[in-house]
Amino acid sequence: MALDYTKKTIKHFLKPKNIGSIDNPDGYAKIGNMVCGDQLDFFLKVEKGKIIDVKFLSFGCASNIATASVLTEKVKGMTVARAKKYDWQKIVEDLGGLPRQKIHCSVMAVQGLKKAIDDYEKHLLQTAREKKTLKPVKDKKTSVEKNLNSRKRK
Ligand code: FES
Repeated sequence: MALDYTKKTIKHFLKPKNIGSIDNPDGYAKIGNMVCGDQLDFFLKVEKGKIIDVKFLSFGCASNIATASVLTEKVKGMTVARAKKYDWQKIVEDLGGLPRQKIHCSVMAVQGLKKAIDDYEKHLLQTAREKKTLKPVKDKKTSVEKNLNSRKRK
């Protein structure tokens, strides 16, 4: 049985866009499907709320590669907020269709991207919390400093 792939899907499979990894990514996720055994890794670089770079590694089928390829092509340059709304139907539409048996590949690609965005947001929140707790206390002398100063005057 041969599956009916569109020319665009075959093109993205044979020459995928944004394949590879990113050193020190702002967001990273690994996702897999226990049924088919396919896997994707997503890497994100974000600046001022925009995805400035996105790459993926695939250990999967032709649709796994093609859906991740078209997804990364579309979300590169998008705001994180907009990228979070990108859904699997849009990937299928962008590829001009996918065989019914391969729809789950597009779902997994979207879930992987969203997981990488979650990772980015988690780190952002953690960094903000750390900055807040490490904020220096200005013009407030500790009781030890006050005691030292009062002893010096005597
Ligand atoms: Fe499972 Fe493609 S067959 S991701």
